[in-house]
Amino acid sequence: MIRVENVSFSYTKKVFMEDISFEVQKGEIFGFLGPSGAGKSTLQKILIGLLTGYKGSVQVDGTEVRERDNSFYEKIGIDFEFPSLYEKLTARENLQFFASLYENRGKEAREKRMEELLEQVGLLRDADKKVSDFSKGMKSRLNFIKALLHNPDILFLDEPTSGLDPTNSRLMKDMIITEKQKGKTIIITTHNMEDAAELCDRVAFIVEGKIKALDSPHHLIMEKGTNKLHYSYLNNGAEVTDQCLLKETGQNVQLQNLMREGKILTIHSEEPNLGDIFMEVTGRRLA
Ligand SMILES: Nc1ncnc2c1ncn2[C@@H]1O[C@H](COP(=O)(O)OP(=O)(O)OP(=O)(O)O)[C@@H](O)[C@H]1O
Ligand SMILES: [Mg+2]
Repeated sequence: MIRVENVSFSYTKKVFMEDISFEVQKGEIFGFLGPSGAGKSTLQKILIGLLTGYKGSVQVDGTEVRERDNSFYEKIGIDFEFPSLYEKLTARENLQFFASLYENRGKEAREKRMEELLEQVGLLRDADKKVSDFSKGMKSRLNFIKALLHNPDILFLDEPTSGLDPTNSRLMKDMIITEKQKGKTIIITTHNMEDAAELCDRVAFIVEGKIKALDSPHHLIMEKGTNKLHYSYLNNGAEVTDQCLLKETGQNVQLQNLMREGKILTIHSEEPNLGDIFMEVTGRRLA
């Protein structure tokens, strides 16, 4: 669905993005994961045709993005990093306005879909309130359903759960999963590694305008991570904790003695999470 080949991009004379290549299959959720300023939003803006001065090739559903025409925007939905809504209009008026910019659905179907979407994100009761009276989380939710209005095949979501409380973040993630189940292709930008690990089929680690690793969260954790074993035992009446690498438990004489003597109090393994792997691979923290 998306093919990016040898893309480079500069805001200034200095090259910022270099040598970016990857593909996204139809029906996949693909994540850009990286710290602030890494270039996630920049890459997303290239993919949606907002930054056309790139070198290399970016094809979205067969269209070279710098040659796009307006029909390009019928098949993609965009949830920008910062909500782009008319503050003086109500939520419903905002949706009606943005829906009117698209051609691909009849008015009736659109109205029905609008009401359904408002209901799904818990905004139906506030639909006739002015957006200026909305909280940050309410604006994020409205901005998100704005991207779904015209039922696009590809969704570009920039930090969709940022600033949301746990309940609304869950709701948003469930809606993203539902879109995937409908066969939509979804590109997500995030620095939240839990969201990335839960939602994404594959993630690209992005640091300073470059892709440092690209694989499924599971593979990245299995291949690059080191699993540890934590255990505790009694020593002169006091609990002592210790740890070793899971793969080295067979050679750990102390641990084996403690086990044989039945002196272990607690024992559990610890698998690295995607944030640990990001740190290992890039030497940078995510947030
Ligand atoms: N319009 C612009 N002109 C010049 N430099 C820009 C512009 N937009 C972004 N940049 C720079 O490009 C770099 C990457 O920005 P970008 O917004 O892509 O980061 P990001 O990974 O999305 O970060 P965040 O997690 O904070 O959203 C930053 O150093 C930023 O200052
Ligand atoms: Mg960003």
